[in-house]
Amino acid sequence: MDKSIVVKNLKVENQHNPLGIDIRSPRFSWMIETEQNNVLQSAYHLIVTEEDGEEVWNTGKIDSDQSIWIPYKGPSLTARKCYLWKVRIWDNTGQISDWGRASWEMGLLDEDDWHAFWIEPEQEEAVEEPFITVQEMFLRGLKDKSLDEKAKDLRPPQLLRKKFAISGDIKKARLYVTSHGVYQLELNGSRVGNNEFAPDFTAYNVRLQYQTYDVTDLLASGNNAIGAVIADGWYIGRIQLTGHSCQFGNKLGLLMQLEIEYKDGTTERIVSDKQFVSSPGPWQYADLFIGEKYDANLEQSDWSCFDFNDQNWKTVKQVDYSLDNLVAQFGPNVRVMEELVPLSIHSETDGSQIIDFGQIIAGRIRIAIEAKNGDIITLQHSEVLDKDGKFFMNIIGRNKDQTDIYIARGSGTETYEPKFVFHGFRYVRVTGLIASIKKDAVRAIVLYSDMETTGHFECSDHRLNKLQHNIQWSQKTNMLSIPTDCPQRERAGWTGDLQVFAPTAAFNMDVYLFLERWLGDVRNEQFADGQIANFVPTGKYYVKECASMGQLSSAGWGDAIIIVPWVLYERYGDVRVLEQNYEAMAKWLQYVQHKAETEIPDSMTETDPTVLERQKYLWNTGFHFGDWLIPSIVESADENTGPMDSAILTKELVATCFYANSALLFAKIAELLGDKETAHTYYTLNKRIRKAFEEEYVDVNGRISAHFQGIYILALQMDMVSSKKRLLVAAQLAQLIKDNDHKLDTGFLSVPYLMDVLCTEGYEDIAYRLLYQTDCPSWLYEVDMGATTIWESWSAIKKDGTVGHMSFNHYAFGCIGDWLYREPGGIKHSSPGYKHSIIAPNVNVGMKSAKAVLKTGYGILSSAWERNNDFIKLEVNVPPNTTATVILNGENRVEVGSGFHHFQYESPAVLKAKA
Ligand code: BGC
Repeated sequence: MDKSIVVKNLKVENQHNPLGIDIRSPRFSWMIETEQNNVLQSAYHLIVTEEDGEEVWNTGKIDSDQSIWIPYKGPSLTARKCYLWKVRIWDNTGQISDWGRASWEMGLLDEDDWHAFWIEPEQEEAVEEPFITVQEMFLRGLKDKSLDEKAKDLRPPQLLRKKFAISGDIKKARLYVTSHGVYQLELNGSRVGNNEFAPDFTAYNVRLQYQTYDVTDLLASGNNAIGAVIADGWYIGRIQLTGHSCQFGNKLGLLMQLEIEYKDGTTERIVSDKQFVSSPGPWQYADLFIGEKYDANLEQSDWSCFDFNDQNWKTVKQVDYSLDNLVAQFGPNVRVMEELVPLSIHSETDGSQIIDFGQIIAGRIRIAIEAKNGDIITLQHSEVLDKDGKFFMNIIGRNKDQTDIYIARGSGTETYEPKFVFHGFRYVRVTGLIASIKKDAVRAIVLYSDMETTGHFECSDHRLNKLQHNIQWSQKTNMLSIPTDCPQRERAGWTGDLQVFAPTAAFNMDVYLFLERWLGDVRNEQFADGQIANFVPTGKYYVKECASMGQLSSAGWGDAIIIVPWVLYERYGDVRVLEQNYEAMAKWLQYVQHKAETEIPDSMTETDPTVLERQKYLWNTGFHFGDWLIPSIVESADENTGPMDSAILTKELVATCFYANSALLFAKIAELLGDKETAHTYYTLNKRIRKAFEEEYVDVNGRISAHFQGIYILALQMDMVSSKKRLLVAAQLAQLIKDNDHKLDTGFLSVPYLMDVLCTEGYEDIAYRLLYQTDCPSWLYEVDMGATTIWESWSAIKKDGTVGHMSFNHYAFGCIGDWLYREPGGIKHSSPGYKHSIIAPNVNVGMKSAKAVLKTGYGILSSAWERNNDFIKLEVNVPPNTTATVILNGENRVEVGSGFHHFQYESPAVLKAKA
């Protein structure tokens, strides 16, 4: 039948036909496809059956316009079982779609479902690195050991294998696996799946994910063998700020269960146990951050095949670790996502060759070489060249070597691609290779968590398009397993960085499950007193590392527990993320409230009771990162000034602003979840904090005591000043920017609101000058200086070409991406998940045209406009089952349903931003 409405893109837990999930009440979503306009769903009918057709759950016809995140409410689901589901819908004109069909399979749900044993190959225990503090790590003078010295303490990854025989016609086979360390698997000589760095980085002690693979086609009746390689990964390797090792354990281990179902209905299980044998492989070591050393002469071919002679391999130990931390994989795996060809290759005078990939990435290279037996080829990775175009390692700290070493076999062309490391780089320096490298012989392998690209922004200004490109690349390269600050130095899940970048991230990619997973650990690692860690997962040294700061959290970082779920709820429309994090949010706020109420600054000598009374609404004690990295402070000529100064000078006011903001958001969330009393408490608290802030810090002229751009921005954005003073405060901000030659001077926490605040306060002209500013600090300065990602420091390369030691790949300042999509792009959510949107492109930002596209949970939402003299042509696409309000010229509102809509209207270009 030729239907005009079709149900497509069926997903369970936001994935297509997932295998091995352990969510007991998975959620269903679908999209509606139609050529017609104004389509809304009026009802759905969903049926779940077992594979043999037996009905499990039948909703009957439900009158509802909900087409995303519908929870399963049938009888308990069974471990390992595959379920089929189908759904059809009715639209608002009474048309019925055909059934759309899909499936999902449950994983192992309880400890009892596991029959495998943890096994450990014979190995030396990993060496624990001596303790150093965060401050020591950043000292330029810190003496890091040479690679040769380090190598003595590094251990080889291990190969493990087991032979087994099976007989019968295989219907299906599933492999459930996880490890201490990161693993790759082979069955009968073929790689299993394409995951990299599994299991993903989680708070392993609380939550270790296992992965499920469909290996039906890799097995055959008769003799088989399975093999696993395991390397240190995040579990044991030298990770995070300080490069400490053994953060979760010091021995590699494997847990694996192969389950085979034969066509005759019988089943068989092959598990990790004492029958496994192990041997070191060709790697002398492989450390995620340091790099790997691989000796091709030690390769053992066919090591995962049945006939391989493993006589000399060692027996493994069966160990009794608890299985209570095992959970199914949730969210995307890391995979090879892209490959890049070199832009150029040149030689330096010392004979080394520098490969330039033209783009900063996170990943590694694959290189085909010809060399003599035993030749040692070294690959060093870096993000920049120095002022004179020479190779330059910009990253400092302990164990951040990013260097891979290959020892050649010497037999024709051999190809090397490291397996258990990733680096942040654009340039690779190759030494030890005499033949010159041809472009065809090398590729950059780009690795990140496998998420769908959902957003696209472009406009008539190519420099802003380059900025958008750089933001996207900083996102891809910092979303490898967890959301990180940077992919070369700390590679840590800094809560503040993500809090700032989450709105932009949710435009560019479908980050929902990725961030939901990470939030799980933010909760898992919340401290008993409610503090939320500055980076997550934390690891064994976190508390000791933070000792010098006197607390375990910071304003603006810990607030991620409230802000990030809220952003996800708004953008993806799923209330579960609020429910799941609600308790942790409450605990965080109680911690902050306790601090505010019980502590006053040491320096306080005040005796006036009103002043003393309001102190309990100000979060004005303890250490915070403040408006981190304010350019004028961090880049001041004064050598004694550094990042900590921007923290100290702003922390008190920043903390109080975030306290108010979190109280308000939490009140909204409480209200939404039906907790009216709590909502009332926090709405009231928010008012009191704002009042106290104004009384304490804002003078009659609207001048705030910490007279920095960022503080004004936060105060205005978070409504910390009464309407009486708002104009004055905004004028102070405008003046500060003008006095700074129309350049921004905002840190991490305020920069996301910079453009919005200026525009809402009537200073669009200043906002646009900041947007097009090309002097440092500015977004386009970086673009003009050849950036391919967003830098940690606006002046990472100075005007005279001097290259600094900071990271060239920090997404935080890329948070302007959100504004680009919303303002010139013109797309905004107005109800959760874009069920209703607002299309209101700002056509007066000095562009001739702009276009924003977003794949929402309902389908493609887009807005594209073009200026022709004083006329604007606007094309809008609204996904089925949603509606939108199109706002022309900031005032004419047109309500539209789904489908394509064209508008043409007069709009004189009032603001010549570039003038
Ligand atoms: C990281 C940041 C992080 C900060 C804390 C830095 O070293 O790279 O991005 O948020 O520390 O202030």
